[in-house]
Amino acid sequence: MSLQGAAGVEELIFYVNGRKIIEKNADPEQMLLSYLRKRLRLTGTKYGCGGGGCGACTVMISTYEPTSKKIRHYSANACLLPICSLYGAAVTTVEGIGSTKTRVHPVQERLAKCHGSQCGFCTPGMVMSIYTLLRNHPEPTSEQMIAALAGNLCRCTGYRPILDACKTFCKESVCCQRKANGKCCLDQEDYLFDKEEKVSTRLFSTDEFQPLDPTQELIFPPELMRMAENPPKRTLVFHGERMTWISPVSLDELLDLKAAHPNAPLVVGNTSVGPEMKFRGIFHPIVIAPARIPDLNVVKCMDDGLTLGAACTLSLVKDILTNAISESPEEKTKVFCAVLQQLRTLGGEQIRNIASLGGNIISRKSTSDLNPILAASNCVLNLASRGGKRQIPLSDIFADGVGNNTIMPEEILVSVHIPHSRKGEYVSAFRQAPRRENALPITNAGMRVLFEDGTDIIKDLSIFYGGAVLTTMCAKQTCWTLIGRHWNEQMLDEACKLVLKEIAVPGSASGEKVDYKKTLIVSFFYRFFLEVLQSLKKMDPCHYLGIPMEYRSVLQDFQTKMPQSIQIYQDVKPSQSPQDPVGRPIMHQSGIKHATGEAVYIDDLPSVDGELFLAVVTSSRAHAKIVSIDTSEALKGPGVFDIITAQDVPNTNEFYYSNDPEIVFARNKVICVGQIVCAVVADSDVHAKQAAAKVKIEYEVLEPVILTIEGRFALGDRNTSTWRLRVCLLFQKERIKKWMCMCQRSIQQLFRTSRAVRLILSRGDDMLITGGRHPFIGKYKVGFMNDGRIRAVDAKYYINGGCTPDESVLVAEVSLLKMDNAYKIPNLRCWAYACKTNLPSNTAFRGFGFPQSALVTETWITGVADKTGLSPEKIREINMYKEDEQTHFKQKLDPQNLIRCWNECMKKSAYHSRKTVVSEFNKQNYWKKKGIAIVPMKFPFGLGTRYLSQAAALVHIYTDGSVLLTHGGIEMGQGIHTKMIQVASRELNIPMSCIHFCETSTTTVPNACASAGSAGTDVNGMAVKDACQTLLKRLQPIINKNPKGTWNDWVKEAFEQSVSLSATGYFRGYNENMDWEKGEGQPFTYFLYGAACSEVEINCLTGDHKNLRTDIVMDIGCSINPAVDIGQIEGAFVQGIGLYTMEELKYSPEGVLYTRGPDQYKIPAVCDIPEQFSVSLLSSSQNPYAIYASKGIGEAGLFLGCSVFFALRDAITSVRNERGLKKTFALNSPLTAEQIRAGCADDFTEMMTNDESASSAPRAISV
Ligand SMILES: Cc1cc2nc3c(=O)[nH]c(=O)nc-3n(C[C@H](O)[C@H](O)[C@H](O)COP(=O)(O)OP(=O)(O)OC[C@H]3O[C@@H](n4cnc5c(N)ncnc54)[C@H](O)[C@@H]3O)c2cc1C
Ligand code: FES
Ligand code: FES
Repeated sequence: MSLQGAAGVEELIFYVNGRKIIEKNADPEQMLLSYLRKRLRLTGTKYGCGGGGCGACTVMISTYEPTSKKIRHYSANACLLPICSLYGAAVTTVEGIGSTKTRVHPVQERLAKCHGSQCGFCTPGMVMSIYTLLRNHPEPTSEQMIAALAGNLCRCTGYRPILDACKTFCKESVCCQRKANGKCCLDQEDYLFDKEEKVSTRLFSTDEFQPLDPTQELIFPPELMRMAENPPKRTLVFHGERMTWISPVSLDELLDLKAAHPNAPLVVGNTSVGPEMKFRGIFHPIVIAPARIPDLNVVKCMDDGLTLGAACTLSLVKDILTNAISESPEEKTKVFCAVLQQLRTLGGEQIRNIASLGGNIISRKSTSDLNPILAASNCVLNLASRGGKRQIPLSDIFADGVGNNTIMPEEILVSVHIPHSRKGEYVSAFRQAPRRENALPITNAGMRVLFEDGTDIIKDLSIFYGGAVLTTMCAKQTCWTLIGRHWNEQMLDEACKLVLKEIAVPGSASGEKVDYKKTLIVSFFYRFFLEVLQSLKKMDPCHYLGIPMEYRSVLQDFQTKMPQSIQIYQDVKPSQSPQDPVGRPIMHQSGIKHATGEAVYIDDLPSVDGELFLAVVTSSRAHAKIVSIDTSEALKGPGVFDIITAQDVPNTNEFYYSNDPEIVFARNKVICVGQIVCAVVADSDVHAKQAAAKVKIEYEVLEPVILTIEGRFALGDRNTSTWRLRVCLLFQKERIKKWMCMCQRSIQQLFRTSRAVRLILSRGDDMLITGGRHPFIGKYKVGFMNDGRIRAVDAKYYINGGCTPDESVLVAEVSLLKMDNAYKIPNLRCWAYACKTNLPSNTAFRGFGFPQSALVTETWITGVADKTGLSPEKIREINMYKEDEQTHFKQKLDPQNLIRCWNECMKKSAYHSRKTVVSEFNKQNYWKKKGIAIVPMKFPFGLGTRYLSQAAALVHIYTDGSVLLTHGGIEMGQGIHTKMIQVASRELNIPMSCIHFCETSTTTVPNACASAGSAGTDVNGMAVKDACQTLLKRLQPIINKNPKGTWNDWVKEAFEQSVSLSATGYFRGYNENMDWEKGEGQPFTYFLYGAACSEVEINCLTGDHKNLRTDIVMDIGCSINPAVDIGQIEGAFVQGIGLYTMEELKYSPEGVLYTRGPDQYKIPAVCDIPEQFSVSLLSSSQNPYAIYASKGIGEAGLFLGCSVFFALRDAITSVRNERGLKKTFALNSPLTAEQIRAGCADDFTEMMTNDESASSAPRAISV
């Protein structure tokens, strides 16, 4: 069938939030996300990554199924949904479920009131995932709830408050279920609370919540039901500018179309084709959408198994298998169980809801979790083409291990047959990914063995691996060789050797982790070996011994459970006025607007008249001379307005952040991959990007700056990105934040045109161009006594500054000042070198060098423990600051609260008794180990110089009594505006509801210092207080005259007396200084203290781990807002887990960043937070230096994430001790699954040591 033969061009009909959309010019290239945001101006749905990895764009799709007469609601990523796939569907976005103008939906309300939003960028996506679940299950189980959030990432909150909101909808009890000590938080146990102080554990009140009433939800449009009952019996065709979408109704038509357009992909979920088009520039002029064809949606239960249509979604497959397993005898469902096992963690729910079975199989990606197990299980593909139908075993398409294209381009997959398992047959699937959920596997496997009747003699064996090479691979030779062998240790030994030889993982193939992948290959087989041995015993206990008791726990994979948590803070004094909000858990002022999608981010601003778009062209070389820039082709592109290079920028093309200039556009030479060389200005984002791709730059490569440092301890680079995209909209004269300076100055010349310019960096460009936290290498020598007392330390830090200085020197200085962490070091020499490299310039990030240098300190502390045979906590205790002391730069400190935090954390975590339990567990389990660690923290607060901590505020009182407040602090989710309103409320003695906030702007408060160093609330709070006190002083005579009057009376009177009702407030800054010549000074104003205890469990065969429990005690003075402050601690802590155990940036040897989005760069997801999570704020702590005795809390909690690192280290130590391995061993950060596995050295890792591929050049380098 040719295109001409297809019916005429259609109108696309679908609904959005109950409103009918008729799109006459539907463009197949347009995704729902851009349609919602740009066309319908529904900007609540956010663009986070564009590739299905973050969940910020989650919407609910509803369709009607006429046969079952059921409406199906499912969550989906709008960034991957072509609008053409929505014919007859109803889309619900965050705006459709509630708003401040109509009614806020219970999900939105509870998420906000439970403090589940900080920056709020992930919040609409979270709301829609929860909402969709509740549409299907109004009273979900906690397992369903946690599964629904697996595909949504949050960079700020640490997920706990989001889960608290979720729990209020679940059937089960909301108590903490603190099982470790068998006690529950609701019992208000004595040991948790300080008897002297009245403490609270409530951050919100459920009494305020509206009930969830499913009858109030938007109904499914009746018109769409009618359309579904009488679907168009014709092929639907949509033509775009460049692409045509054809959706046939019958298999016949489909086969005709495929015969006519063999290269046209069949698009079902678009989760494979979509990202390829977006990120790899692959273009298809024609796509065929087969989802409406009944043959591709069949679900048939046959005598020998299940036949499932290729267009069935993975969620549907999951449901069908779950059903089949519950209804059929165990013996028959081993294949189903193994497939289901993979489906549970494949992508997030949004992906599984749209991705198809056929798409996963036919894409033949090496990372397919289904192909290895389907191939190993003898699944059969039912193929069809104009030439006829045929059946082939799925394994055939991988027969030679590289995908031998046995499926012809004109052939389509109609359905897949998944067979029942037989008697004597055992089937298993395995996977290991950088993160347990929503992450593509590093390596996976499907294995099946069939024994001769009643024996352990192998009759048939099938082993397939994924992730190891470019596609799924069969260990065919190994399997043939082992047929006829008994299932015993000899067979295992031979199998491991054979399989390693056969599945050669070349160092240059799929990139990296070669040894790890190979270790997994054999470890998975070993795990299968154990599983089968155990099953044989179950079948015939008299003949088969099974596996030793201590091996059994490894047969259970880690599961994600709903975490339980408790937060404890000191209540306000009973004497405090109920109207005074200071010290109370007040909701983030923007919380509701975050949850309804009404909060406006820069890219949500409507376009202004004549707006232009900017796309940057970046360097593809790390160090090279620019020979020429050819813009001729690009300038011819549609809508291109101009191309700006260094030559076009008037004046200097430079800006200064330190003494050395940063170059805006590369001038003559480039110094890193990702450096901006020039920028295209065009009438649309698409045109600007298309033209940018046509700019040709010729380079002459220069010698790179080579730096070789042999490291003792390395801590890798971390990307600073939140999931908000960097977007800027530049108007004339507008001043925007630091990172925006570059673009602002770069397009100065455009200002002559007075046209606004919008720059939207894609997630990939953002990560490529901008640097991250500084990677550190620490080298040290430590002198200590046998009793563990540290006598002297000589430490050197090498800091990868990247290609320009930025703040590297300052970070180096701060890292030296904070490197002592909580310890008294009698003799100390420390050095820090900021090193120039040809990588994007690195910058300061939460903690400003402290998380890196203090981790090095904690590492040598554990090293001393190893050497002395004492426990790490003993070494920590012995060396901790104890009484009024001086730091290494001679600043006085009183460590009383440090010791209190440590002791309380010890007590609350029941450290010593749990350590015994951990050690008992470790004795009884060989392949699984637990680890526990407690780490103290002293976090110095200060910016080093007075002028950097000055701040100003402006407060107006209006004659109606309302107050408008603004200050110089930037709200980035940390709740600064909420706290400032709390301050003004206390100072003016009026309710918070009378006080409004005016967005931070340099037109109202000039010369604002950076909101950095945890100082925002401290310094701006002082300025707000000052302004309010000035106003109150002016009002005082009037109040004195009429003390019984109201606020409005006094304001009215003041106005009539011509008293000014507007005041500025100012704070000069803290008196901080440091004399680097003498090496002494007072660079900090005060210290925060804390301690965290974490417990983990590791799987020694895979390197996987689970965070079991964390207890944090933190001294933050008197909290102004415990909900916001605990949110900061938890959010930072979880970010710390990411920093120390997960987040890895990988570069090519040529300096090209590989990890450019959530698909490769893994931040913690909901599955990564501790199963039990408690945070207590130290009571009775005062701070004379900051507003209302509080302490700045934004950064400190991040470092405590290293308690997980050291708990993992403890677990690995236990493995190594048991195996008699070397006592001293190095573990770098991030301590990923790969490193954990390498640390747990055994016979399998030993097999890798002399392997040839280890010597091949690595394709990816961790920095
Ligand atoms: C964020 C994200 C996370 C993911 N995580 C995982 C994971 O953890 N594990 C995993 O295994 N996968 C994962 N995937 C991959 C995902 O499972 C596959 O992309 C998906 O199954 C493909 O199905 P689709 O319907 O979306 O395919 P589409 O993109 O619509 O099509 C894919 C390809 O299959 C072909 N095709 C589709 N149907 C047929 C047919 N009937 N006959 C012939 N050819 C056909 C098409 O021509 C096309 O070439 C992830 C994807 C994303 C985006
Ligand atoms: S923007 Fe769609 S998943 Fe990230
Ligand atoms: S609140 Fe979740 S990303 Fe900021």
